[in-house]
Amino acid sequence: MKLEAIILAAGQGTRMKSALPKVLHPIAGKPMLFHIIDCARQLNIDRIHVVIGHGAELVKKAIDTDDINWVIQAEQNGTGHAVQQVMPAVDPDSQVVILNGDAPLIRTSTLQPLTRTQQLSLLTATMDNPTGLGRILRNDENLITAIVEEKDASEAQRKITEINTNYMSAPAQQLSNWLNQLDSNNAQGELYLTDIIALAVKDGIEIHGHLVNNTDDILGINNRSELARAERIAQSRQAEKLMQNGTTLIDPARLDIRGNCNAGQDCLIDVNVILEGDVELGDGVTIGANSIIRNSRIGDHVSIEANCIIEQASIGSDCAIGPFARIRPQAVLEDGARIGNFVEIKKSRIGKGSKVNHLSYVGDSDVGDDVNIGAGVITCNYDGANKHQTNIGNHVFVGSDCQLVAPVNIADNVTIGAGSTITQDVADGELAISRGKQRNIKGWKRPVKS
Ligand code: UD1
Ligand code: CA
Repeated sequence: MKLEAIILAAGQGTRMKSALPKVLHPIAGKPMLFHIIDCARQLNIDRIHVVIGHGAELVKKAIDTDDINWVIQAEQNGTGHAVQQVMPAVDPDSQVVILNGDAPLIRTSTLQPLTRTQQLSLLTATMDNPTGLGRILRNDENLITAIVEEKDASEAQRKITEINTNYMSAPAQQLSNWLNQLDSNNAQGELYLTDIIALAVKDGIEIHGHLVNNTDDILGINNRSELARAERIAQSRQAEKLMQNGTTLIDPARLDIRGNCNAGQDCLIDVNVILEGDVELGDGVTIGANSIIRNSRIGDHVSIEANCIIEQASIGSDCAIGPFARIRPQAVLEDGARIGNFVEIKKSRIGKGSKVNHLSYVGDSDVGDDVNIGAGVITCNYDGANKHQTNIGNHVFVGSDCQLVAPVNIADNVTIGAGSTITQDVADGELAISRGKQRNIKGWKRPVKS
C-alpha cells in the first residue's frame, strides 16, 4: 500500500514572538521541520507533502530539497483546512499519515502504529496537565467517539487527561470524504481536522487509538520555553547515542551537538564542548573543555586541549592542538602536526610532524614536513588589497619572531634566524638572516626626567 505523509507547517507560531517562521527555529542545529521530514524519510513514505503558509518562501528555501511536495495554504483556516489543500495531490488509493511540523522530537518507532495500518488511527497520550490540547472522548465501551478542542469543551470534558497528539492515519478516499463535511461552527471558527473523528464514527468506522508512552516525542513547540526544553531532550538523546557507541562524556548534559557527529571508539569529550555541522572524530580523540569544532574531520588519537576553535579543517592522526588554538577554514594538518597556544592557522597545510607551538599566524601557506616554526612567527599574507602565498619546504627551521612577507618561497632545509623579516626567496640549505647586527654601547646613560 502506498503511504503518503502530510506535514502541517503553515501556522504562524504567534507565541514564539519571532520574525522567523516557527518551524524554522532550530533544534540541535537544524530547523524543527527538518527533523520531521527526516523522520518521515526514514519511514519509507512514498511521498511527503508539507503545508506551508506563514513565511512559505523562507521555509522552502531553508529546507531546499526536491523530494517534498510543497502546498501553500494562503490563509490558515485550521488544521482541517490545511489537509484539504493537499488532498487533490494525494493518490486516492494511498494511506495518509498526518504529522505536526512543530514537534521536532518525533521518532519513527512512535509513528509505526500509523504507518502499518489501513484504518483510521490516531496517537493519543495522557497528560497530567492537558491544558490547551484537544481531549479524547470515549463511550461506555471505551471506544473513541470524538475529539473536543479545549476551547469548545465543557467543564467535565476539560477534566479528561487523554489528549489528541494530532498524529493520525487514514485511507485517502475516506479522509477526503470526511474533510468535505467539515464546518467551522466552533469556538475558533476554523475547520478542525479533529472533527473527522466524529464523522467517521457516524459512518460506523471504529477508531484505533494508540497511546504514546514517551510524551517527549510529541512535545509541540509553541514558545521559547518549549523550544529550550526540546533542545535539552534532543541533546540528551544525541549524547546517549555517542556514549552507546563508545565515547566517554565527562558530563552528558554539558555537550552540545548542533548537527551530526560520528565518533570512533574511546573518544573522550570534556565539558562545555560544542560540535557543529558535520563533525567526524576518529578513534581515541580527546577534546578539552570549552572547545568548539565545526564541520571538521579529526583523525585518530588527536588531542585537542581546552579552549580551541576548529572550523572546516582536516586534522590528520596523532596531532596535538591547543590549548587556545584557532584552526580556521581550509586548514589541513597532516599526521603528527602540533599546533600550540595562541596560534591561528588559516587556509594552510601543515606537513607531517611539523610544529607551530606558540603565538603564530600561518595563513595562505604550504608548510612541508618536519618544520619548526618558532614563537611569534607571522606569514604576512595580505598587502592591503590581495592575499599572497607562502611556501615552506621540508625540514625548515624558522626562528622566533620572524615575518615571512608573501609571496615568498622557502626551500627545503632552510634556517631563518630569529627576528628576521624575510622578503626574498631562500634556496635549499641556506641560512637567511635579516636583522641588524647587535651593537653594545659602553657607558650608555639612560635619559633622566627633566
Ligand atoms: C491541534 C489539535 C489538538 C491537539 C494539538 C496537539 C486541531 C483542531 N487541534 O491543536 O486537538 O491536541 O494540535 O498539539 O487540530 N496548521 C496549519 N494550518 C492551519 C492551522 C494549523 O498548517 O490553518 C499547523 C500548525 O502550523 C501546526 C499544526 O498545524 O504545525 C497544529 O496547529 P496548532 O494551531 O498548533 O493546533 P492546536 O491548536 O495546538
Ligand atoms: Ca500546537
